[in-house]
Amino acid sequence: MDKLVRFGVSLDGKLLKRFDSAIRERGYTSRSEAIRDLIRADLVARQWEKSKEVVGVVMLVYDHHRRQLQEAVTELQHRHLEEIVSTQHVHLDHDNCLEVVIVRGAAGKIGRLADRLKALRGVKHCSLSMSTTGSGIS
Ligand code: NI
Repeated sequence: MDKLVRFGVSLDGKLLKRFDSAIRERGYTSRSEAIRDLIRADLVARQWEKSKEVVGVVMLVYDHHRRQLQEAVTELQHRHLEEIVSTQHVHLDHDNCLEVVIVRGAAGKIGRLADRLKALRGVKHCSLSMSTTGSGIS
């Protein structure tokens, strides 16, 4: 085993509380153990999915008032024409927009597109749900 390395993580108290209760429910006795498992699961999932063709749905909730965010969301989609099947925009309320983007392509590309959308400032929530295209599954 490689040398253990310690690193610090900053996150807001509320999120940490929720994380602690979620890992307690799963029977973890330490945060380190839970975080190690999360990292491993993420790395494996990414590797496994990278080249497979998938369909997916990206759900994006973002701040309608944040300057240029709408443009950035649209710009990113224009740069990924091959992966974007369809987009639906819903004005949730005075302050919030929901964008549902149906995507199709190599899982790695889809994942990176979702990551980029998630990283835009003013995006409150971004989820990616991937599914099979159905071919090769009987
Ligand atoms: Ni809107």
